[in-house]
Amino acid sequence: MSDPRAWLNGRFLPLSEARVPVLDRGFLFGDGVYEVIPAYGGRLFRLDQHLARLENSLRAIRLDPPLTRAQWQEILTELLDGETDQAVYLQVTRGVAPKRDHAFPAEVRPTVLAWAFAIDTALPTPVRAITHEDIRWQWCHIKAITLLANVLLRQEAAERGCQEAILIRAGRVTEGAASNVFAVVDGVIVTPAKGPHLLPGVTRDLILELARDLDLPCQERDLAAAELARAAEIWLSSSTRELVPVVELDGAPVGDGRPGPLWRRLHEAFQDYKRRFREST
Ligand code: PDD
Repeated sequence: MSDPRAWLNGRFLPLSEARVPVLDRGFLFGDGVYEVIPAYGGRLFRLDQHLARLENSLRAIRLDPPLTRAQWQEILTELLDGETDQAVYLQVTRGVAPKRDHAFPAEVRPTVLAWAFAIDTALPTPVRAITHEDIRWQWCHIKAITLLANVLLRQEAAERGCQEAILIRAGRVTEGAASNVFAVVDGVIVTPAKGPHLLPGVTRDLILELARDLDLPCQERDLAAAELARAAEIWLSSSTRELVPVVELDGAPVGDGRPGPLWRRLHEAFQDYKRRFREST
């Protein structure tokens, strides 16, 4: 097993040697936020968008940004191997407190951790998904490290032979346990509008940009569970897996049970966009 370099509270060290005290509020309360940022050819992809979202998450949990954008860029780039497709995981917690007390400690020194790992960006394997009631909290726009509901939902999907759980709140799709959701309904690409019940996905925004560049009809609006059930295509987007077609939902085929033509066009547009990104300096 390789042992990637990590960055923890101001210094680089092997990930296997990185240690955080048990009184860290991330460990005790899940009191922190995170980001996952893809990198192609040693360059961080959509870095500004990810760092803007990190700043929003930090503001929402009332933590000051521990680093400037330029500092993040320097440190995170340093973690990359420069060649393979990777993603950086970073998290900021409210740090170590003298005792376990839910309310914030008087003095806060955040714990900041990051490391890079390989991502597989070969042609995505189509996936199966289940639908499930969205059992999470009301502030899902914050990229919180508190992921117990997401973990249980993804596990439920896995135990039913599926790769993702698509979440339904009050009859409407919110997102996947770790992805945003798109559906092709009556020829239109539909994805739920941003709001407190879903993460504003960076990949989601790029897919919408690419769809608009291709003049494909798309809408950000409520997506009813009933529309999802009859969609011709369903896709999942995320930084680590890009755009993945769902070919089976709750045991029934989506469309003809194969990745659809609009997925193919957007997947190609995404690959072209990445190629241009890799080639630009
Ligand atoms: N998750 N919604 C949720 C709940 C997510 O966890 C993610 C990504 C997304 C997609 O966002 P983006 O396109 O910005 O990656 C949507 C990351 C990859 C993770 O937790 O590993």
